[in-house]
This record gives sequence, C-alpha cells and structure tokens, in this order.
Amino acid sequence: KPAVRVALLGCGTVGSEVVRLLHEQSADLTARIGAPLEIVGIAVRRLGRARGGLPVDSGLFTTDALGLVKRDDVDVVVEVVGGIEPARSWLVEALRTGKSVVTANKALLAEDGAALHDAAADGNADLYYEASVAGAIPLLRPLRESLHGDRVTKVTGIVNGTTNFILSSMDATGAGFSEALEEATELGYAEADPTADVEGFDAAAKAAILASLAFHTRVTAADVFREGMTGVTAGDMASAKEMGCTIKLLCIAERGPDEAGVDSVSVRVHPAMIPRSHPLAGVGDAFNAVFVEAEAAGQLMFYGRGAGGTPTASAVLGDIVAAARNRLTGFRAPSESNYAHLPVRPIGAA
Ligand code: HSE
Repeated sequence: KPAVRVALLGCGTVGSEVVRLLHEQSADLTARIGAPLEIVGIAVRRLGRARGGLPVDSGLFTTDALGLVKRDDVDVVVEVVGGIEPARSWLVEALRTGKSVVTANKALLAEDGAALHDAAADGNADLYYEASVAGAIPLLRPLRESLHGDRVTKVTGIVNGTTNFILSSMDATGAGFSEALEEATELGYAEADPTADVEGFDAAAKAAILASLAFHTRVTAADVFREGMTGVTAGDMASAKEMGCTIKLLCIAERGPDEAGVDSVSVRVHPAMIPRSHPLAGVGDAFNAVFVEAEAAGQLMFYGRGAGGTPTASAVLGDIVAAARNRLTGFRAPSESNYAHLPVRPIGAA
C-alpha cells in the first residue's frame, strides 16, 4: 500500500520525540496500520538549529508551515507548536481540505475548539487531540468513544503535574509554597515562569477540554471558574492533615440540574481538601490522574504521566496511527460539531 504521508508542525521536545518514535517503531507501525508512515515535511521556526541527530533528511525541514499544510502530498498534519495563532489557521486549512489533524494544542482547543470541530465537519476530516490533556494518559478517547453509551456525571482531576509536585512536597515535608516551588524549579518540574501552572490557567484549559468531551458540549477556558494554589500555606496543609485530608489542585466538572432545573454543566479549578482515602489523594510527584463518574460504569480512574516529551509523544503517535488507519478504511473520528450543547453555568467570578 502507498505510504500515509505526515507533515509535522513543530520539532521541539514533543515533535522530536514523535520523529524518533516513528523511526524506531516504523516496522511495527507499518504492520499495525497496513501501510508505512512517511514524514514528508517538518515545519520549524528556524532552520539550522542542531536537532540532536534526528533520523530524518535535513531537506525535510521548512519554515513555511502553511505551505506545507497546503501540499497535495500531505495526508495527516501533526501540530505540536501550541498557541492560538498561527496554529488555528494552519489546522483549519488542513481540516477544511480533508486532511487529518493530530494536535497537542491545549490552548487552542480550550479557547476555540469549535473552530477546529466545525472545520473537521466541513472537510469530513479527522481531528484527534489525545495529547492535549494529561500527556500519555489515554483519557480523551475513553471519554470520546468508550463512554458514549453512558452518561458521565462528574469528572474530577489532577491535571497539572507542576502543582501536584508542589502540593505533594508540601504535604510530605511541611514546606511552604515558595520553598516547594523552588524545589520544583530546581528539579525541572516547574518552568522559569510558573504562572500558568500555579494560577490554574493550565488546569482550566484542560478542564474545558475534558468537560466538553464528557458532557458533549462546548466549554471554553473562559467558562471555567479558576483559583490558583499560591495561597495554600504550610498551615493549611497541616490543618488538612490533622483532619485526615490532603490538599490538591483539582479540576471539577459536573453535570446536573441548575437552580431552575435545567440540565447543565459547571466547571471549576481550585485547591481542595480531599480525604486520604480518596483515590486522588495518593497521586504524588508530578503525576496526573482523572477520576470519572458515570451512571452505568460507576467510578473510573485514569492515572499516569501528564507531561514530558516521550509520554506526550506516545499519545501523539497513537493518534497518528488512528488517523492513518482511518484514511485507509474510510472511518472517521466521532464528530463533535453536532452535539446538543448543554448550557454551561457560570460559577462566581474567576
Ligand atoms: N505545565 C504542565 C504541567 C505541562 O505541569 O502539568 C503539561 O501540560
């Protein structure tokens, strides 16, 4: 069978791992898909940067991402650049013209996922984004497919590794926030500017994506009530411990009737006390975990590495395989543009 041709947009931490894994596992992937995968172009911001001996021809690199997306010989566009623009324009162009898209772009999906879903419907194209939330953890596909016969009532998650590392270390050592943040920075968990993590912006974006899938509606990051965890003190943690609890930064998305009895959705991110007996209480280090409650399935827990080049690349690769297979069989990822769109309840002021 002819190769399924892949254009990669971005070749940073995740992108270079995608290239490496595609190369290393090429024989297995070909067998699983029924055709080889071929990288036909890699869009980068700057040419000439040393790319750690990646197993690809240097002639594949280009700075013209849009030109690459528009090429007729591209079947699957993989975006690991991030940010709203120009990523949105590239992906909308790809989807409208029937190319399959695999993206890890949490910010774009949380701010304007509708633009991507609608473009996918217009182009009858595949849109996969498993890597956008909780890195390696297979989570979006279960919400998007496996649980579609059920009714999800609540999703509670630890979806930010940096803050989970900080809170776990405060719990274990009695350290204050600043000291624990310093340790997280030294160990490379926290970024130089940790604002998006500690203020809950990163978790709010992920919560919006999870809630949209769990409740078949459209939730954006702006709909999510958000309170960061910088105000959690060593004293708060000590009090929580005395009560048999710990403190986690949780995203909580719920479906249920509002005050007027209207079936609706509410989504929030804030530090919360949870009993030590709760499955999320034992999630330590920089791990992520998401606890899902559904009417028929009952309680489910998804756990694993929520960040890092290789774990995130694993999720991207799974999506590439699904998209490539679909191109050969004519199947499509479930379309989310025709959902009933339950109303989203505002919660206080963010
Ligand atoms: N900064 C994020 C975290 C990375 O700490 O979880 C993954 O989105």
